[in-house]
Amino acid sequence: MDAASTYTVSIHYDRRLYRQDIAGSIAHARMLARQRIITPEDRDAIVSGLEDIRGEIEAGSFPWRPELEDIHMNIERRLYDKIGDAAGRLHTARSRNDQVATDMRLYVKDAIDETLAEIDALRRALLDRARDGATVVMPGYTHLQRAQPVYFAHHLLAYFEMLGRDAERFRQARVRADVMPLGSGALAGVPYPIDRESVAEELGFAALSANSMDAVSDRDFLLDFHAAAAACAVHLSRMGEELALWSSDEFGFVRLSDEYTTGSSMMPQKRNPDFAELARGKTGRVIGNLVSLLTTLKGLPLTYNRDLQEDKEGFFDTFDTLLGSLRVMNGMYSSLEINAGRMRRAAESSHVLATDVADYLVAKGMPFREAHGVSARLSEYAAGSGRALSDLTLADYRLFSDLFEEDALTITVDSSIEARDVPGGTGSAQVRRAIEAAERALASDSND
Ligand code: ARG
Repeated sequence: MDAASTYTVSIHYDRRLYRQDIAGSIAHARMLARQRIITPEDRDAIVSGLEDIRGEIEAGSFPWRPELEDIHMNIERRLYDKIGDAAGRLHTARSRNDQVATDMRLYVKDAIDETLAEIDALRRALLDRARDGATVVMPGYTHLQRAQPVYFAHHLLAYFEMLGRDAERFRQARVRADVMPLGSGALAGVPYPIDRESVAEELGFAALSANSMDAVSDRDFLLDFHAAAAACAVHLSRMGEELALWSSDEFGFVRLSDEYTTGSSMMPQKRNPDFAELARGKTGRVIGNLVSLLTTLKGLPLTYNRDLQEDKEGFFDTFDTLLGSLRVMNGMYSSLEINAGRMRRAAESSHVLATDVADYLVAKGMPFREAHGVSARLSEYAAGSGRALSDLTLADYRLFSDLFEEDALTITVDSSIEARDVPGGTGSAQVRRAIEAAERALASDSND
């Protein structure tokens, strides 16, 4: 093939639609026969020919022909080779425009189901680790500065929530994908007495598209998929970033299993977090694919334009990439070694109790703003002599306010955490409740 003809070819990627394309054709042929648009003999020849072809594709013996450009023409021509003229009747009351839109929607629905199963599995892994980490204390951060002590479980459950929103976005995207374009023809509908409802039912679609012109040119259901995937990939990127930080010597909070680190060809001591980094790095292409489709759609006149063929590679890439990242994140978290001692020391050897000291003074009647200033000066004083708050004596405290009494010395990371006993807070009763709620959320999502 010369350059001009290879330019339009899509078979090297749209062959992934073969199952959806064949299912759509079989449902269409059966409906045509029910409506007496084709004979039962032609229907039988078409259906068994298409089933044969599916077998050939799955066995790897299908003779792909790039000069036929796409999956639809490859299958149609092969059907002709097998059953002759009856093959030509399959395309009655149908266009490749409503055909390809139907194939893509069928594919996206399955892709969403697979993605949801992986999100669920990752949430399960996080929840399991949250149980292990229910009493592990770590510093919580703002601005990447140690801020207040929290339970490690509380930190992990933050990701559980994020991924829950991702799942919700995918479920919503699935509802919008669940609409059948078939029957729209090239753009205006078809001049045959077709029965769209029965085809939708056979293919498992919940609704029929309401406007044929919209139906053949609409790729919003892909935008929804890309947008949900981009948000999810951003979350995985943030998780990857934290694993890379936490597994560094500087933090030392966790150790990634050997399976998820690689050595350096030069520096023998290295345990590089390549998988965590790629979960972060691959987010770039997922975001890129969203922008790419938005750009393709921008400025398209109604209705079908060949530009729409460009909807596929980015979609497949995003689907594959996201599944890979979800699985890797699950693997990393499931095999993660947690260094609880190191986490607790990072909390205790810092100034994460400064807020609690201010709250102590507030309880003794001092206005919060003033208490904030006292606590800041106290922390500075401790830091100046290389000490943590827990190293100070009551005399040290009283240099800054007479309101400090013996009980000021009982402010610890544990008392700080337990004091935050509000819904959504890190107190242990709340975290226990959050773990139970997470358990219920997983159970009800998987029953949907
Ligand atoms: N390969 C094409 C696509 O993916 C199929 C539809 C072609 N339709 C047409 N009118 N040329 O969009």
